[in-house]
Amino acid sequence: MNVEFAERIKRLPPYLFAEIEKQIKDKKAAGVDLISLSIGDPDLPPPQVVIDVLREEATNLKNHNYSFSQGEPDFRAAVTEWYKKRFGVDVAADQVVALLGSKEGIANIARAFVNAGDKVLCPDPAYPVYANGSTILCDGTPVAMPLLEKNGFKPDFETLETEGVKMMYLNYPNNPTAATIDKAFLKEAVDFAHDNNIILCYDNAYSEITYDGYCAPSILEIDGAMDCAIEFNSLSKTFNVTGDRIGFAVGNKQLIAGLAKVKSQIDSGPPVYTQKVAVKALSTYQSVESPEFLQKTNQILRERRDLLVDTLQGIGFPCEKPKATFYVWVNCKGDSMKFASKLLDVGVAVTPGIGFGKCGEGYARMTFTQPKERIAEACERIRGLFK
Ligand SMILES: Cc1ncc(COP(=O)(O)O)c(C=O)c1O
Repeated sequence: MNVEFAERIKRLPPYLFAEIEKQIKDKKAAGVDLISLSIGDPDLPPPQVVIDVLREEATNLKNHNYSFSQGEPDFRAAVTEWYKKRFGVDVAADQVVALLGSKEGIANIARAFVNAGDKVLCPDPAYPVYANGSTILCDGTPVAMPLLEKNGFKPDFETLETEGVKMMYLNYPNNPTAATIDKAFLKEAVDFAHDNNIILCYDNAYSEITYDGYCAPSILEIDGAMDCAIEFNSLSKTFNVTGDRIGFAVGNKQLIAGLAKVKSQIDSGPPVYTQKVAVKALSTYQSVESPEFLQKTNQILRERRDLLVDTLQGIGFPCEKPKATFYVWVNCKGDSMKFASKLLDVGVAVTPGIGFGKCGEGYARMTFTQPKERIAEACERIRGLFK
């Protein structure tokens, strides 16, 4: 049988990480002690309360039936309470959808609202799901929204094309640039979306991984946001449970209803026991302040960040100390693939910026999701290479 891929699959861009992944595989096969600064997956464990509740809820036989497709009532209530405590935002339970991780919702929202040929504004560089898993797989057309260093890696709304644009994605704290924003920028974004009748999809997956007193806002704190925005968040990075696949979308009722409708035809929500764990995890917040577990995690990450950034700056590679996320976006002063290959020669894997979009060229993303000793070792190798 000759099996043809659908046209939309053929339209997906070539996988730019393939070559570097092959080189990583070859190094590992050759027995190289590889330090991976390329994976955005926390190395630290989930808090003990998550493990304890997971054990308890997984052994409750009632928790193995189908969930409500939009999410269990207690899960949705916990999310509404979290929004109130963390952001001071009032949302009703019907403004919440449980997700199998935020990636799933970020992709599925387009199925509800993007028609063939509709344009979708996608940041460049960016998490590839906005342009690919979402827009292209719904036959939409991604339109790159450049995130340039001179603009603090924020889009310049005044220069953006709006004709035929149905939806836009924004993500702060940002992957891969680690840029953060303030509420004044979010107000600009909401006004832009509102004035141009554009659905605003706000990806806030890193809202809790913050340093130096920075507190990431929710788009839903902004006047007018409930009219045009949906926000995606997740327990993945906050509680170090990336593999458990639990997240949520919150926002405008119609946008939530559309996403819930799509999901009711595709999946039946995250496992009930996972949602119960999420209820407990979210309830560790008493206020806008991070719970103790998270303060400790962020302290560990901050020390690693300082080590990595101080080293890179010391060698002469320009990069900022990020106020959020576990990424460093380093100006590698040239071809990002070549830079990544060169580091691989000393057993350090990083992600070339070009893999996140054209505007990512000239940069590389380094993650600090490795123990401090491994980061120190990686720093030694990098220093040796460029001294
Ligand atoms: C910017 C951004 N958004 C969303 C996600 C998806 O996270 P999850 O599906 O685990 O919630 C990621 C994962 O790396 C990410 O970097």
